Amino acid sequence: METLRGKIISKAFVIALGISAAALVMLGGCANTSGDDSGQKTVAAPSFSPASGSYDSAQKVSIATATEAASIRYTNDGTEPTDSYGTLYSEPLSVGATETIKAIAYRSGWTSSIVSSSTFTIAGVTNNWVVGFSQIGSESDWRDADTRSIQNAFNADTSFTLLYSDAQQKQENQIAALRSFIARPVDCIIFTAIVEAGFGTVLQEAKTAGIPVIMVDRDVQSSDQSLRKAIIGSNFEKEGEKAATWLASYLTTKGIDDGSTTVNIVELQGTAGSAPTIDRKAGFATIMAAHSNWKITQSETGNFTSSDGKTVMAKFLANDRAIQVLYAHNDGMALGAIQAIKDAGLKPGTDITIIGVDSIKTALQAIVAGEMNCSVECSPLIGPQAVTAVTALRNGTSISTRIWTNEGIFDATNAAAALPTREY
Ligand code: AHR
Repeated sequence: METLRGKIISKAFVIALGISAAALVMLGGCANTSGDDSGQKTVAAPSFSPASGSYDSAQKVSIATATEAASIRYTNDGTEPTDSYGTLYSEPLSVGATETIKAIAYRSGWTSSIVSSSTFTIAGVTNNWVVGFSQIGSESDWRDADTRSIQNAFNADTSFTLLYSDAQQKQENQIAALRSFIARPVDCIIFTAIVEAGFGTVLQEAKTAGIPVIMVDRDVQSSDQSLRKAIIGSNFEKEGEKAATWLASYLTTKGIDDGSTTVNIVELQGTAGSAPTIDRKAGFATIMAAHSNWKITQSETGNFTSSDGKTVMAKFLANDRAIQVLYAHNDGMALGAIQAIKDAGLKPGTDITIIGVDSIKTALQAIVAGEMNCSVECSPLIGPQAVTAVTALRNGTSISTRIWTNEGIFDATNAAAALPTREY
């Protein structure tokens, strides 16, 4: 296919439109590979299929660019997509209510396309619910899997239109997104709170407007919980307890803990003030209380990112090379720390026992490689449960205020067996 006029339309375009190889020849002629003044080529602007306009029924909208190997990002919350902001396009979007989609196409070494915008006016569809989803950003592989799970679950059901807003780790962006959902108004809001405190006022505004709010993954502080309908997600405190319980058994089995000599533990915390940070710390502390010789000698935030995990662990090691255990509030930070441990000339998983949370694929691979010892599972696959809960609200059925996700724990005994079917 590379020989077809030296051009090929992007994979996204082929998948989206399901066109034949013969059609590729014709479409290849549309590819905009013209250079700008500096000679750099510009990616062709995304196009929408069907085109913008008024429709009587819900539409599946494909987005495509005529430039080979280009990627597309889109938004549907009024913000401008860039090559690093917006949802990465992977499959046609379900549009069941009036919506404006903006898209940009980009490719490494090329000038990004202009932003294309299309408005779809949908009339005559009854019982379609518009759901606003305020996500915190994309700080970890876990978060990306969580976003995909929720988008895919709502996109698969044409009776929902999901408006997605990425707060890029800023609480003020989340508050602005919630206010724009209230102003539209949407039928329901799903929301992951970057930190627990500070959302009471805007949640009260949603309640006053009669818009139900369902939290996913991270909850708000207990004094604001009466303002939301439900929380779907993990028991973070239990995750902290599981991590410490596993550690107690491992250290004893390995002869590392005699019950009286100090065990030197460092902790990489997640985002300060967030529910998983507060609860994973508290759960670990509950079990630790029965081990008076365990000492958390250094504890700092790594913001749930791999890069900060590496930086902070390097600092911990520069202060003290006698660290025996790393407890990281997520796998991303643990994996970053593993690099720092190697850079310091130590063997991760052997010289330092490493426990993370999430059980992402790369952490299970690190366990299999002997560089990490344990990962407590925290499932990001919340989308189907969110659709079930929102559907129940639409039907007027009551829902439980606490909907848990099912989770396990992985170490050298079971990580390899789990890898082939691991979804994230
Ligand atoms: O809120 C869940 C936590 O946030 C996950 O453990 C972490 O990886 C994510 O960034």
